[in-house]
Amino acid sequence: MLFIAAALGCVGGDDDGQDFGNIFESPEGVILTEEEHPDGWGRTNCFACHPVEEIHRENRTGTEGILPLEDIQEFVEEEGLDSCPVCHGDNGVEE
Ligand code: HEC
Ligand code: HEC
Repeated sequence: MLFIAAALGCVGGDDDGQDFGNIFESPEGVILTEEEHPDGWGRTNCFACHPVEEIHRENRTGTEGILPLEDIQEFVEEEGLDSCPVCHGDNGVEE
């Protein structure tokens, strides 16, 4: 089990979903930069490393009132991968 968990451990995840701390405190906030996203930079298949059911599960930025997680979840469900750049920037992907 431990081996499998380690092999799959591309990014951290537990029952509370993925946790990278308060991402508003990183260089460009919610917008991704190459520096803070070296493994995912330039990639478009976000769900490969961030399964949709594991992201936007817990508020770590203290912005509940401004951007409720339920609204983000709903928007992401409707728009899929097309939604990510709207909030997280282009992730180094040329349009
Ligand atoms: C190859 C795996 C991989 C892919 C593909 C990937 N990511 Fe990531 N992502 C990571 C890892 C690993 C982290 C943790 C930070 C780090 O060490 O790079 C992360 C962190 C993040 C964070 C938190 C950043 C912060 O400020 O701490 C966001 C938001 C994010 N990714 C969004 C995306 C989006 C949007 C896409 C698709 C455009 C994407 N990721 C594609 C691996 C990936
Ligand atoms: C409507 C804006 C919005 C959209 C669209 C959006 N995100 Fe996010 N995302 C956020 C916000 C805000 C946070 C920080 C949540 C918090 O901590 O309160 C976040 C956090 C994250 C994180 C950090 C881990 C976590 O769960 O907090 C990852 C990874 C991530 N988003 C990936 C994605 C991917 C992949 C997509 C596209 C499928 C996407 N996001 C679409 C606003 C958005």
